[in-house]
Amino acid sequence: MKILGIETSCDETALCILDGSGDLNSPSFSVLGTSLFSQVKIHEQYGGVFPALAKREHAKNLVPLLKNLLQKTNLSKNQTAATAKENLKTEQKDYLKKLLEKEPELFECLDKYIGTIEKPNIDAIAVTFGPGLEPALWVGINFAKALNYLWDIPIVPINHMEGHIVSVLASAQKNITFPALALLISGGHTELVNIPNWTKYEVVGQTRDDAVGEAFDKVARMLSLPYPGGPHISELAEKERKENKNPANKKFSFPRPMIHSHDFDFSFSGLKTSILYKIKELKELTPKIKQEIACEFEDAVVEVLLSKTKKAIEKYSSQSLIIGGGVIANTQIRSSFQKLDAEFPSLKVFVPEMSLTTDNAVMIAMAGYIQIQKDSSTLKTKPETIVAQGNIQL
Ligand code: KG4
Ligand code: ZN
Repeated sequence: MKILGIETSCDETALCILDGSGDLNSPSFSVLGTSLFSQVKIHEQYGGVFPALAKREHAKNLVPLLKNLLQKTNLSKNQTAATAKENLKTEQKDYLKKLLEKEPELFECLDKYIGTIEKPNIDAIAVTFGPGLEPALWVGINFAKALNYLWDIPIVPINHMEGHIVSVLASAQKNITFPALALLISGGHTELVNIPNWTKYEVVGQTRDDAVGEAFDKVARMLSLPYPGGPHISELAEKERKENKNPANKKFSFPRPMIHSHDFDFSFSGLKTSILYKIKELKELTPKIKQEIACEFEDAVVEVLLSKTKKAIEKYSSQSLIIGGGVIANTQIRSSFQKLDAEFPSLKVFVPEMSLTTDNAVMIAMAGYIQIQKDSSTLKTKPETIVAQGNIQL
């Protein structure tokens, strides 16, 4: 089954076409092609994602990305200009104009190019409907609705966090066995999710304030590192670990918030504040000091994440641990979690391949496939019922 994935919840405009097969016990995927435009450079100057700008960029880029993707995958022929001209009829134009009232850039692109694209051989469109930035989510949803109207391909609405969970399936060599536990660590979320089987997600712990990725980005800003700060902190911390092999020589010691609490919740704002106070005390922030702070911050994060996850594995007798979200691109966090199966011999640990750690459309298309396997009536979802839900929970 071929699925077009659309992801526009934040600052990546991502499309992909995926071929899925197999049932829920052993799904198998082959990525036919991907097309991505990252807005990171555009938002860098604002030190964070600027929603109105993200929305406009998605609207400008979706149609060219789709054209490029369909060319790459050979799933649709480009039509001659003569045929193309006749393709969009007046009533279609009027319908799309109304649908895309709030996305004039998207309407313009569709009007100009969509007639040159032949209906592709695709069975479903999976689109992120939340959580994320609502204006950005709406562009992806309305794009999916426009394609559904023009090509009559069903839409499956996808929760972005389910996308991060299934992101591990692209490369899973072994089957996920249940109960599974997912640790989701991204720019907007820090969650532990107990998964008795694919049809149930039970959020058992979450952050009470900042998400892990957000803490990385805020600490990076305190150290005058560019946005997004996670990869920069990670690089400095790695350098420090190479230079100082003896942890007893550490200059800084930061708190491990809520490490001893009897629940699975997290808190990272206290850690961030204690770093802020430390920086204020220091006369200057030399490159070496920045490295040392980055390293100790990362150690504190790893310790808290590991400790809470281990407690949850014990409580829920988890057979599989799935880790998803942009922060699992972090080398130290990745390697610390990959070692966990030595401590829990019956546990299988799944981390996504690097290209699927940050936001992408492959995970959205895979989630679409899983959704269809769980309940095929999802293919009958009425497009007009799909709305952006910025704060939707799993
Ligand atoms: O999943 P994601 O792409 O977007 C959200 O859904 O939020 O995650 C983005 C987050 C950012 O906060 C970014 O700084 C963080 O992932 N991140 C990292 C690394 N790479 C990305 N954090 C720590 N170390 C990294 N190597
Ligand atoms: Zn994400």
